Amino acid sequence: MDIQIGLTTARNRPELEIYGAALAASLSVPYVPRDQRGLGKLKKAYGVQLFLILKEGGMLELEGDPPLRWHPGMALPRLRLLANGGKDALLEAMGLRPGDHVLDCTMGFGSDALVAAYGVGKTGRIVALEASPVIAALSQHGMGRYNDVFDYYGMNLPALAERLQIFTCQAADFLRRQPDGSYDIVYFDPMFQKGIRHSSGINALRPYACDKSLTLSLIREALRVARRRVLLKERAGSEEFRRLQCARSVGGKHSTVAYGIWDKT
Ligand SMILES: C[S@@+](CC[C@H](N)C(=O)[O-])C[C@H]1O[C@@H](n2cnc3c(N)ncnc32)[C@H](O)[C@@H]1O
Repeated sequence: MDIQIGLTTARNRPELEIYGAALAASLSVPYVPRDQRGLGKLKKAYGVQLFLILKEGGMLELEGDPPLRWHPGMALPRLRLLANGGKDALLEAMGLRPGDHVLDCTMGFGSDALVAAYGVGKTGRIVALEASPVIAALSQHGMGRYNDVFDYYGMNLPALAERLQIFTCQAADFLRRQPDGSYDIVYFDPMFQKGIRHSSGINALRPYACDKSLTLSLIREALRVARRRVLLKERAGSEEFRRLQCARSVGGKHSTVAYGIWDKT
């Protein structure tokens, strides 16, 4: 969806202005000085439809009732499990190895991307794509400054986030420009087409998210770009696996989601 977004600061917080302008530049979002004005006035004056608002303590939120803020979702429990020697269903389905290069075509709030960043280790690389500028900006800012007790050999979310390179774009536009076999794994986790996803976190993104269905030609393009495997997360038993000519799927026995897999031969 094409929404004109802008970034401003909370009202009566002139001390946030320099940071706000720098943050807006780093997130590639236009900056609008607040100057004590109400959001309605700013919208009219600058042609902005939705504002990201920088608040005290560096918190960034999307205006709304309730406002939308980045959160790590299931990333923390999954990372803790991995750090304690457990397994993660996505990493298993990816067959991820240290040093791998992963292209996450549907980053959202980036739980999967952060878990994959853990899996590939220091020598690996994750490129994460997000079509929605609002979601991309909240994620990029949020995961880079998240403070939490998760700390394993000095690693925490901001350290993992440094392994991510985020681009705000449609997956199809990015894939088209990539050479053959340039990523070990190409991953899709689109908004589910049918049924309600069992995650309030994902549902909060829905009004701003891209909800286009994947196409067979997009999967073919992903297969061209992948060295080992293309993966699709969907509802277990989803018709999408058949429609997109997925060769096999794993998971779904003890979970509501499954992973469709296309292996490179
Ligand atoms: C279900 S969420 C992804 C959740 C993510 N895997 C996680 O772990 O947090 C899907 C996200 O992908 C984005 N998206 C959907 N289709 C896309 C496309 N074709 N290109 C880029 N982003 C897309 C949506 O805007 C949404 O933010």
